[in-house]
Amino acid sequence: MNQTLRFTVLLLLCSHVLSWRKEEFRTCHQTPFCNRARSRAPSSSSLAATDVTISDGALTAKLISKSDPQTKPLILTLSVHQNAILRLLIDEDPSLSPPKQRFHVPDVVVPEFPSTKLWLQRISSENGPSSSVYLSEGLSAVLRHDPFELFVRDDSSGDRVLSFNSHGLFDFEQLKQKSEGDDWEERFRSHTDTRPYGPQSISFDVSFYGAQYVYGIPERATSLALKPTRGPNVDESEPYRLFNLDVFEYIHDSPFGLYGSIPFMISHGKTRGSSGFFWLNSAEMQIDVLAPGWDAESGISLPSNRVDTFWMSEAGVVDAFFFVGPQPKDVLRQYTVVTGTPAMPQLFSIAYHQCRWNYRDEEDVEHVDSKFDELDIPYDVLWLDIEHTDGKRYFTWDKVLFPHPEEMQRKLSAKGRHMVTIVDPHIKRDENFHLHKEASQKGYYVKDASGNTFDGWCWPGSSSYPDTLNPEIRSWWAEKFSYQNYVGSTPSLYIWNDMNEPSVFNGPEVTMPRDALHYGGVEHRELHNAYGYYFHMATADGLLKRGEGNDRPFVLTRAVFAGSQRYGAVWTGDNTADWDHLRVSIPMVLTLGLTGMSFSGADVGGFFGNPEPELLVRWYQLGAYYPFFRAHAHHDTKRREPWMFGERNTELIKDAVHVRYALLPYFYTLFREANTTGVPVVRPLWMEFPSDEDTFTNDEAFMVGNSLLVQGIYTERAKHASVYLPGKQSWYDLRTGTVYKGGVTHKLEVTEENIPAFQRAGTILTRKDRFRRSSTQMKNDPFTLVIALNSSQEAEGELYIDDGSSFSFLKGAYIHRRFVFKNGKLISLNLATASASNVRYPSEAVIERIILLGHAPGSKNALIEPSNQKIDIELGPLWVQRARAPAVMTIRKPNVHVAEDWSIQIL
Ligand SMILES: *[C@@H]1O[C@H](CO)[C@@H](O)[C@H](O)[C@H]1NC(C)=O
Ligand SMILES: *[C@@H]1O[C@H](CO)[C@@H](O)[C@H](O)[C@H]1NC(C)=O
Repeated sequence: MNQTLRFTVLLLLCSHVLSWRKEEFRTCHQTPFCNRARSRAPSSSSLAATDVTISDGALTAKLISKSDPQTKPLILTLSVHQNAILRLLIDEDPSLSPPKQRFHVPDVVVPEFPSTKLWLQRISSENGPSSSVYLSEGLSAVLRHDPFELFVRDDSSGDRVLSFNSHGLFDFEQLKQKSEGDDWEERFRSHTDTRPYGPQSISFDVSFYGAQYVYGIPERATSLALKPTRGPNVDESEPYRLFNLDVFEYIHDSPFGLYGSIPFMISHGKTRGSSGFFWLNSAEMQIDVLAPGWDAESGISLPSNRVDTFWMSEAGVVDAFFFVGPQPKDVLRQYTVVTGTPAMPQLFSIAYHQCRWNYRDEEDVEHVDSKFDELDIPYDVLWLDIEHTDGKRYFTWDKVLFPHPEEMQRKLSAKGRHMVTIVDPHIKRDENFHLHKEASQKGYYVKDASGNTFDGWCWPGSSSYPDTLNPEIRSWWAEKFSYQNYVGSTPSLYIWNDMNEPSVFNGPEVTMPRDALHYGGVEHRELHNAYGYYFHMATADGLLKRGEGNDRPFVLTRAVFAGSQRYGAVWTGDNTADWDHLRVSIPMVLTLGLTGMSFSGADVGGFFGNPEPELLVRWYQLGAYYPFFRAHAHHDTKRREPWMFGERNTELIKDAVHVRYALLPYFYTLFREANTTGVPVVRPLWMEFPSDEDTFTNDEAFMVGNSLLVQGIYTERAKHASVYLPGKQSWYDLRTGTVYKGGVTHKLEVTEENIPAFQRAGTILTRKDRFRRSSTQMKNDPFTLVIALNSSQEAEGELYIDDGSSFSFLKGAYIHRRFVFKNGKLISLNLATASASNVRYPSEAVIERIILLGHAPGSKNALIEPSNQKIDIELGPLWVQRARAPAVMTIRKPNVHVAEDWSIQIL
């Protein structure tokens, strides 16, 4: 490389890295607890468990330090729950009067969970070297007394499944009373953290057995399978950081933590399957994934079918959950038994959203809205960012730009569309702003270290932040969403919570100081990662109250914590309009799904910068399969609504949006599956093909449910794509019906028209093929079934329908069918459980078309029962709305009702 070129490249690299403002954020090295923990040697803990007893149905023990008898013992509690869930609690001994109670994160574990506790009666060998308790059929939890270690064991093989402190890295710094001369302050840039209780961090190691990879612990932009951060043959990197931050222009591959933190990890391997580990702790966390062969103690290379991890947190307690799988979907079920399954979204919210910072005024809104109609592009939601308010005072409208908010919403609503406005946690400190006046009078704001109201800088300038950890403040906040309080809001208006990490422009690392104080004397450092969670919860609760408990809330949040899935959707924040960000959006969305946050998506087009039309089109084609599908753009970018790049690109974007609308019945069914089982809407391939090693690190392709495989195109002017299609069965190209063999990597030609997507043989997809202005208007439209037969000429699929908006489905007002095709006959079976109240969802909708892929040719007609009606089988287009769609075997207008039992025999 010549000098000038090298210089230019350097300059380009620098400008990119600099835009991330790396220096604003702490590294592990600059973070004393992380630095201390990372430098500790294995087996340094020398703890022993003593006084093991069973009390109140749980096992308790004391943990004593053998190396330092001065250290106060810790209290360990072990409980076993239904679904083979093991919970471990370690805290200071309250009878030894610590300076204050450490923070146990409330309201994350669902209220029903404690009642699933199994009553431990007896432990084997409490006086021997270890105590073991029954965990579930064939599994035990074993507490080794000296040195202290906890593991889950498979009783028949004796193999371990999961273990805690096997490397002796456990450390727990107990709170201290400050005495003369103690200097516990920490400084970072111009900020000082007073740390009134001294160092209080916790760290330990966790091992996953029979595992090749670990996944999870969002949020960050990196690969799906987590790369080792330490160990032999790896370049030591930063640990994975969990600390909710407003990161400006994040880079596309980094262990650095972004807006949300979910301290839940899932492992996977070919032989054993999956297990999971969740640490309920909302302080800053740093996690190392150790490379195979890591064993500093023995220096011996270990078999690579175990993954060792090292967890460090600045504060809190050990409240840990072990999940034994053994299948990936089982781990998701177990995790969501503890933290809750995702809320069932409204139908409109899983359709397409149009957003921009900002739609200027009512005229702009009207123009954008009518342009969608003119071009026949469906969309469901129009979004207003911060500029719609009166000077960034949330719950208000700019009187000049938005003088008629109700009328504006009513016009959208007449077409079945909705509006979303932004409501952030920073409240403008303006004595004339009623919200601020009330909050300060009532003392509802977070306090600084000296007990005064915390005052930070954000969009409105000087701002304070409601302390939503306090249930009373949450219910006060929720009231603000009533139609009376939120003047100008109507029932078709929903909410967006941004900046809830919380973002504080002049705070340390752009957030709140760690020594700020919350309800109950909780330090911000203990609560930080859950601040956004409580704010999101209070907002969702506001919409629930507003709708009198019969309108499902929709609240998009940027900051998340474990359990956020119960309150709404998340997006991956301020990404950039480049190909790398398009690509990393898939591992990001998959990882969120693996940790319960199924309803997620990335900004289509990229938030910062101006996408080339080709990138924008590719982003729509991929985004059409995100669970949350929204286009969004930064203030300083050029307008990029679907019609801004010429007719051809408009057509391509429209086509991508149409794919999503056609598949809405399938997506909605998957959202219900997530709502009942925790299994995410979009899934890594290995969740569907758990024993296929070729899928374990694939994060360019993904499954939508169990039936669709989608491969993104992440490069410019791509002519070909390599697509690995797993399994023994074949796959049908979604657009052409062409069959491809499974278990093979195919080199496929690609065009600008679509990204590769395939229906798995043996599945039945449900579609709606008539396009209207919004999903709401498609509600009573007929369905199309696409039956993709496998080698045994069989297929199966499900369809879930309800009113799309209320909670009546919880009382039985829904339709849930299973379609089974076997022996040349399609039958529709009822999956709905009989409801006591006899509530039903009355749908008149029919099936207007049945497409058979992979059926032997020659059949001319079919017999519908019980109506005993004969009907023709003919050739018809695979996609009715597409000019060049191939002709396939079709049963037109069987017009059977989705709500009823029937069968169709191919003759
Ligand atoms: C499904 O979602 C609804 C709210 O949207 C929630 O009340 C319910 O608990 C969730 N889970 C199940 C199993 O219905
Ligand atoms: C074909 O699909 C059906 C339904 O999904 C399934 O039960 C059957 O096992 C599959 N056949 C083969 C050979 O995989």
